[in-house]
Amino acid sequence: MPKSVFITGAAAGIGRATALKFAARGYTVGGYDLNEAGLASLADDIAAAGGAPLTGRLDVTDYDEFAARLAEFTEAAGGLNVLVNNAGILFGGRLQDIDPADHRRLIDVNCKGVVNGCQAALPALRATGDATVVNLCSASAMYGQPELAVYSATKFFVRGLTEALDLEWGEYGIRVIAMWPLFVQTAMVDGLDIGSLDTTGVHLSGDDVADAILAAVEPGPLDRLTHRVHYSVGLQAELAATITHYAPSWASRLLHKYVSHS
Ligand SMILES: NC(=O)c1ccc[n+]([C@@H]2O[C@H](COP(=O)([O-])OP(=O)(O)OC[C@H]3O[C@@H](n4cnc5c(N)ncnc54)[C@H](O)[C@@H]3O)[C@@H](O)[C@H]2O)c1
Repeated sequence: MPKSVFITGAAAGIGRATALKFAARGYTVGGYDLNEAGLASLADDIAAAGGAPLTGRLDVTDYDEFAARLAEFTEAAGGLNVLVNNAGILFGGRLQDIDPADHRRLIDVNCKGVVNGCQAALPALRATGDATVVNLCSASAMYGQPELAVYSATKFFVRGLTEALDLEWGEYGIRVIAMWPLFVQTAMVDGLDIGSLDTTGVHLSGDDVADAILAAVEPGPLDRLTHRVHYSVGLQAELAATITHYAPSWASRLLHKYVSHS
């Protein structure tokens, strides 16, 4: 029986690239999203390459819907080896310039969506054994980001949830890991006009992140031995993580002030 992966937000961007990479690796892929046209095109591409994907509409903010799609997929695929909590949204701008309803939606999708996925998937992940949960965090969880304040706060949430569940679920043999890319060329950053993006530019593609996810899900002996939880993606994120880790907090503040043009 091939291994299986359930990916949210799979219709576009990083999720779509990740679905294609896992399919090429021989996994049974489940792609779920609100965007059904994007899912149909993903399914066509995987099928054209000889795969047999499962796709379906899913709003990650709805726990019952999430549990239902996971149950259908797990039954059809014969288990659940990997869950990728990838669906996410972003609104850029100063806090007061963003509609309060958009702030609430951002928190619902980026935080509640990941909690829903983890909780709904746990029974299937436990039953399968040696399973992995991959949560899409972000370099914006290294230091609070001006003009991305709520988005960046949601990624701090994802970081905390990942670390806690990695410890809670170790006894079940489930790895819970977080991916930390800086800006990636997807629809999420199209038209985004903020200082930090202006300073750093965009140097990652969806494929780069998908490659990093695949490598993290099939870790080498050192990552297994050290129970690695956090995976920076790309040189810029690696550098930022190292500086943020070792620099005193005043220096981190100054760095992020400079980068964000604040
Ligand atoms: N693009 C970046 O610069 C970047 C950087 C770091 C982290 N990330 C994270 O990577 C993940 C993927 O981002 P992306 O750049 O591919 O974005 P994207 O906008 O290209 O794709 C996101 C996908 O999620 C889907 N989605 C949105 N709300 C949903 C919901 N409620 N239920 C189900 N699906 C939903 C969208 O329809 C879309 O297909 C996000 O969690 C994002 O925060 C992105």
